[in-house]
Order: sequence, then structure tokens, then C-alpha cells
Amino acid sequence: MSAPAPVGDDFGARLSFDRGVPGRRAVDVPRWDGEVTPLPDTGLLRDSVRLPELSQGELVRYYTELSARNYGIDSPLGSCTMKYNPKVGDLVASLPGLAEAHPLAPATEVQGTLRTLGELSRGLGEITGLGGVSLAPAAGAQGELAGVLMIARALEDRGELAQRRRILVPDSAHGTNPATAAMAGFTVTQIPTAADGSMDRAVIESELDGSVAAVMVTVPNTLGLVAGLIHDAGAYLYGDGANLNAIMGRVRYGDLGFDVVHLNLHKSFSTPHGGGGPGAGPVCCSEELAPYLPTPVVTEGDDGVVRLTEPERSIGRMQQFGGNVGVLVRAYAYMRALGLDGLRAVSGQAVLNANYLRVLMYGHYDLPYDRPVLHEVVFSGSRQRRTYGVPTYDIAKRLIDHGFHPPTVYFPLIVEEALMIEPTETEPPEAIEALAAAMIAIAAEAEADPETLHRAPLSAPIGRLDEATAARRPVLRWQEDLADCS
Ligand SMILES: Cc1ncc(COP(=O)(O)O)c(C=O)c1O
Repeated sequence: MSAPAPVGDDFGARLSFDRGVPGRRAVDVPRWDGEVTPLPDTGLLRDSVRLPELSQGELVRYYTELSARNYGIDSPLGSCTMKYNPKVGDLVASLPGLAEAHPLAPATEVQGTLRTLGELSRGLGEITGLGGVSLAPAAGAQGELAGVLMIARALEDRGELAQRRRILVPDSAHGTNPATAAMAGFTVTQIPTAADGSMDRAVIESELDGSVAAVMVTVPNTLGLVAGLIHDAGAYLYGDGANLNAIMGRVRYGDLGFDVVHLNLHKSFSTPHGGGGPGAGPVCCSEELAPYLPTPVVTEGDDGVVRLTEPERSIGRMQQFGGNVGVLVRAYAYMRALGLDGLRAVSGQAVLNANYLRVLMYGHYDLPYDRPVLHEVVFSGSRQRRTYGVPTYDIAKRLIDHGFHPPTVYFPLIVEEALMIEPTETEPPEAIEALAAAMIAIAAEAEADPETLHRAPLSAPIGRLDEATAARRPVLRWQEDLADCS
């Protein structure tokens, strides 16, 4: 084991293991001089579990420092998947009656949990205007897959699956949309975005024929016009509702003519998803598609007992048991705490914040689609790249030095050097102003000192990683031979 570093020195490059001193303890337990009960098979015990050997003070200071460097669920602004995660949601989800309910317990013994899930299903049906709901999918992408498989099954029952093999997806879509269509066995036809950033009605019209199974869209612009066209052509309209917080309480997918939509509860209804935490991607659909919903759905029987049941022509299970109940309970708590008026206020605030940021940053970065936005605004760093050789990647990394979690970059793919910022509904004006000030300072720095930006972040213990290796060959536990990671 390497020599311990002085506290506070070189923080982050040295993990607790690297700081240990043999024999040092955080807790002193008195020696036991009484009778010792032998363990059943001492051969199974390891000689050493090689835990870090530190005093309590060192340990507490280490974790305190570490927590201050963590852009966790309480992070300032940043990613869409790490927004408002009220503590009350965690409290409710950890109530023993909910947290300890066994997934295989008989329905009559877990009525509290099942009723909560039933009320959440009803609430989501109300918010989306699509009353068929399954809470089972564990992520947005899984909800999408469920929705597209439901469409496939409905087409099969109509006797049209063999000829309807295409799904139209705009080129601005989240990558999971075309991936889902392909995984479900369809071919993807990409629809180019019109000059104003919306879907081009004329292009959709020209593509719609008897070979189209569905159209998948995310943002509900132009849909009032398009839904009729799609249904007249015998295709289904799929909605990516991951960004529900832009419109909730104001517009309902069902009223816009959608047949099926998935929601990302871990985005719009609390629960942090960033960093790979658990998610919930319920799928909501019209009456026509309800028989195909994934198993289970929550239903109340004539006997007043709420049960998990299998719809008549269900596509089957997307995952085990009833879904990620902890995430679903947080979403329920969030919905009940806000009420319909609160949910409306959320979407108003999310849109206001994004537009405030758009105005504050205006002129400092290119704005490819220069118009009012919904809950997120997409700038482009192409001017900084072209003129000063500073890519968007450098800009995002430099934001860390200003105390902000970097936003989504290089997405959507149709925007060169994209910087997609979703300030979320819960940030006060001062936070939006501080983010804009940081972005403006970085734009000025790109001009004056591009070299510094190439090296950012300068304040983090570890600056630039080899991201491909970190993703492909991650080292997830301490190894002595890799101890010096500086
Ligand atoms: C618009 C959109 N669709 C789909 C997804 C996929 O959701 P998930 O990451 O839960 O699979 C996301 C994720 O952020 C998204 O933003």
C-alpha cells in the first residue's frame, strides 16, 4: 500500500485505499475476552478484505470532500435527467409498507402499493389523455419498444403487418426512436427537419402510403395538422413523451391525436436517472391499443381488490414484476404534491426558464433555430469551433470550472456543435443568469485564450479521460497497480 497523503493534498487522485496506514482504525472495539464461538468453516474466510485503514476523522473528511465534488441529484442546472428530485419523494418511497412490499406477495396483502400504482396509472391517463396505461417499462427506451411492439401487434390483428414495414422518424429524434423501430423489425425512413425546426408536412404527406406502420415524433409542433393525415393513411402516431414537462397540464397527447406515447417518469416526475439510476417509462395508449399493453396493468376488480393483470392481447412482459415501484411511487408523490395546477405551473416555468436563457445567451453563440422554444434551447458552438478552434466539447468541460454540470452536447445530430440546455423548471432566475454569465465568459475566453479551454476542466481532480476506454473497458474497483490515476 502506498504512503498516505496529507489530508486535503492532491484530493481525488488518491482514493481512501491509497491513503490508508496499516493498523489505523475508524472505530475501536474493545477486545473480547469471553468465549468465542467458532465459525462454521473458517476455510471460507479471506485473510484480509483489504479495506482502507483510516481514522474516523480522515474518513469523514474524505467523504465530505468527495460529496462536495459530486454533481449529484442536487446538481446545479445541467442534464435533463437530473432535475427536480424532492426529498419528500424519497421519504414516501422509503415508507416500510411500500419499500418492503414483496413483488410476489398476494394482491390482498399489498393493496396499499397496488392502489398507489392504480392511482398513478389513472393520473397519467388523465395527463396524457390516453387512458390505457402500463407502468411496467423500466426506461424511456423500453417504453418506446413496448409502444412500437403494440403497434406491430395491432397491425398483425388488422392483417396489415406484412405490408406496413416502415416507420417515419424525424432526423431530430432521440437516437432511441430509430433504434426502437429497428429493434421491433421495422425499417426507418428519416424525415428531414424543415427550416423552422419543425417536421415538414409536405415530406410526411409524400411518404405516407400503405407501407407505413407509424410515425414517431417527439415535440408536438405541427401535429394538429399531421395527425389526421397519418390516421387517414392507416398508420399510427407514436409520441415520444420523454419531455412531458414542456407541455404537461396544458396539452394532452390524446387530444392531439396520438395513439400511444411513452413517458420518462425519471425525467419529468422526479427521480434522478443520470448516472444510470433506475427509471420508469410507462406507456399510455388509446382504447384501440389498450388490449396490447405490456403485462402487467393495474386493474380494480368488481370485488374492490386491485390486481396486476394481463391485457387480452398483451405483447408480454418487458421486465420482471410490476415495474420499478420505487420510481413509480416518487412520481405519484410528485403528482399528488403538485396537483393539476402545480403540473401546469411546472411546464410554464420550464418553458419560461429555457426562453430566459435563450435571450440571455443570444448573440454569444449561434442559434440555428432562432425562435421561442419549449423546455430546452439548442445553441451551436460552430462559430467558436470555426473561428477559434474551440469545439463544443471544450466549452462543456469548461463549464465544470464554473460550477455547472455540462449540458447535453452534440445532440440533436442535425445541429452542428450542438449545445442543448434544459434549465428545468425549478431553477430561480439567479441560477439561469449565473449559467448564462458562465457561458458568455467561456465564449469570450474562446476568443482570448483557446488553449485554456482545450485543457478544461482545470478544477477537477481528473481533467480529461480517455472516454472511449472509460466506456468500453471501465475499471470500476480499486486496483493497487492502478492506484496512481493522476
Ligand atoms: C426525447 C427522449 N426520448 C427517449 C429517451 C430515452 O429514455 P431512457 O434514457 O429512459 O431510455 C430520452 C432520454 O433522455 C429522451 O430525451
